[in-house]
Amino acid sequence: MKVSPSILATRLTRLGEVLEKLKSPPVDYIHLDIMDAHFVPPLTFGEQLAEAVRSETEIPLDVHLMVESPEKEVPKYLPLEPEILTFHYEASGAPIRLAEKIRHAGVKAGLALKPSTPIQVVEDLYPYFDLFLIMTVEPGYYGQSLLSNSWARLKQFGDIRQRMAEFSDQRCLLQVDGGVSDKNIGRLAEAGVDIVVAGAFVFQGGDPNLQVEILKENAKLTLS
Ligand code: DX5
Ligand code: ZN
Repeated sequence: MKVSPSILATRLTRLGEVLEKLKSPPVDYIHLDIMDAHFVPPLTFGEQLAEAVRSETEIPLDVHLMVESPEKEVPKYLPLEPEILTFHYEASGAPIRLAEKIRHAGVKAGLALKPSTPIQVVEDLYPYFDLFLIMTVEPGYYGQSLLSNSWARLKQFGDIRQRMAEFSDQRCLLQVDGGVSDKNIGRLAEAGVDIVVAGAFVFQGGDPNLQVEILKENAKLTLS
């Protein structure tokens, strides 16, 4: 289980200090929530802040685009060489073409699904992506509770991933985002989640590195 802390939940005026303190391990990625005030109500930050983060840390970036026109925005983030670049299914007219562009740049292509988007779409798009991000809250804000429909959706994803293994060796990563805490991390691990995003739990409860270790420890205990 890998953990990708969402810096949206930090005190943004102290971002530099926060980044300096984050250690890898235990932190695996830094999750950047790019919101455009159209696809979701808030406006957060863009490629300039992402570049500033990039220059302050060695930890790989995990960019989550919550924007209306991912076709226009993706090219701004590829030069930052993130480890993962994820856009939303609901916002993209041609997700396969966009995924190819991301992969062509040597970046892992991620597709995010809002909590009301049928998981079934994963089946058709599976070969073109490296990662699927199942949103476990409505995107837009940190600090929300994980939605109860998530468990059935994660099971559906697991079934599709198993079926797809019959056709190819490719195994897409499963990431979840929203409301992750020490209370549900065990069940997420059991559901086959590879990467969790965590905002409030990591940044609003003491030392962020320790909070990440708590999540990893709880996941390990459940699986052992
Ligand atoms: C929500 C964002 C999340 C959020 C997670 O739209 O995509 O990344 O910051 O924060 P928590 O873990 O507090 O739900
Ligand atoms: Zn996110």
